[in-house]
Amino acid sequence: MKPATNGIRVREDVWKLTNWDDTLLWYARAISRMQELPIADSSSWRYQAAIHAYSRNADPFTSPSDRLPSLSRRRRFWNQCQHGSWYFLPWHRMYLGFFEQIVRSHVVALGGPDDWALPYWNYSDADNPDARLVRREFLVDRLPDGSPNSLAQAQRGPTGSGGTGDFDIEPFDTDLSCLLTVPFRTGRFGVPSGFGGPRTGFQHGGGVIGDLERVPHGAIHVAVSGWMGAFETAGLDPLFWLHHANIDRLWEVWLNRGDQFENPSDPSWGAPSGTDFDFHDAAGAIVTLTADQVVDTKVPLLSYQYEDISDPMPIAGLGEEELIMGKGPAMLVGASEESIQLSSSPTSVNVQIDPTAMTDNLAALAEGEPQRAYLNMENIVGFDKVSSYKVFVNAPEKEPEAQTNYAGLLPMFGLVEASRRDDPHGGSGLTYVLDITDVVNQLKQSNKWNEKNFQVTFVPKQRAQGGEKGPRVGRISLYYR
Ligand code: C2O
Repeated sequence: MKPATNGIRVREDVWKLTNWDDTLLWYARAISRMQELPIADSSSWRYQAAIHAYSRNADPFTSPSDRLPSLSRRRRFWNQCQHGSWYFLPWHRMYLGFFEQIVRSHVVALGGPDDWALPYWNYSDADNPDARLVRREFLVDRLPDGSPNSLAQAQRGPTGSGGTGDFDIEPFDTDLSCLLTVPFRTGRFGVPSGFGGPRTGFQHGGGVIGDLERVPHGAIHVAVSGWMGAFETAGLDPLFWLHHANIDRLWEVWLNRGDQFENPSDPSWGAPSGTDFDFHDAAGAIVTLTADQVVDTKVPLLSYQYEDISDPMPIAGLGEEELIMGKGPAMLVGASEESIQLSSSPTSVNVQIDPTAMTDNLAALAEGEPQRAYLNMENIVGFDKVSSYKVFVNAPEKEPEAQTNYAGLLPMFGLVEASRRDDPHGGSGLTYVLDITDVVNQLKQSNKWNEKNFQVTFVPKQRAQGGEKGPRVGRISLYYR
């Protein structure tokens, strides 16, 4: 465990810690303590998870003797997680900040160090062959002193794979292409795609998912699955907090890449007109925050920094065009006519491209306007938990998963939540946007791009599970900008 300097604590890379490092030992002890507290106590393990989302039906610890907080309290403090929103990053930062403060207060009460900070799980670390595995401390039944290990007490699936810590997380699940996205904010119709998500008010789920929220964020939730696979239970898995520390760290990595990588300057993101969020601090007091109050991790409220925010894909190696954002309005050049039912085997669809839109577009191209192409999968709904889907464009029949045709991953995290009719957005589902400019350019270069035959193929990451129904994609559309 690294000591704090000038009161700034260090969030360390969990894979760089020694076996049962103090950071992990005290985390385990504090969690055991939090688990003993009743759900109505804001410093309890269950209350903390309920802030993200809560449903009695999904609560694995529910008991007849539970006394939940009052309805008005639940309305104000529970089911708050922000997804499909430009508040995804700041809200989860606030959430982790208070959680860390609460864990630390338990650590201190138990006689531990007062500079305890959350570690992070860097599953994308190319220098660490074990990066995509779960650390052993989260798998073994006992602490070194023989007492029960709260870090391992979580439901993780798919069944059978958990014991070794290998959740079949693949390189495409931990891909960091999101760092290439320059705008923070996703534009109208998802064009351009944004690093942090679209402008919204309070947004608990559904809508257009930002690039970092999609991969690696959503992909890791879906791969670990079990409690991590649903909003209501995610926070009950001690790994959740390490996963989100890493997502929060990637926000810092992205900001650090260069001047163009900026948080929204729009005054409606933070105070005075942006949405504010209520939390409890370690003393149980209510604290209300806006996004602009957490952009700096060193403010007294947060007081942390990451061990490493170096750029995993240094910008020097990138072609200019990869950083160019297309200018001008978004142009819809094609869309599917019907919704598409996905299944547990690959599904291909042809999308008609409108020839006049194409001509206009080619004219724009001729004038040397940089163009980018965006593939939108709109209003994806489904009621079964399913794996992630890989998307390919114009994939050859013999090789449906050809790497050159790979467009991106659609993790179905939050799908069920966003599909419910009683969801605040009426079950309109998830919308994913993939920037497919590079794929299209590559296909053009090898003369394999054919506007008359634009085909999209969805390949589930895991084939043939136990009879789940695949999600339905409301519409596939292609935009140029
Ligand atoms: Cu609000 Cu990773 O979830």
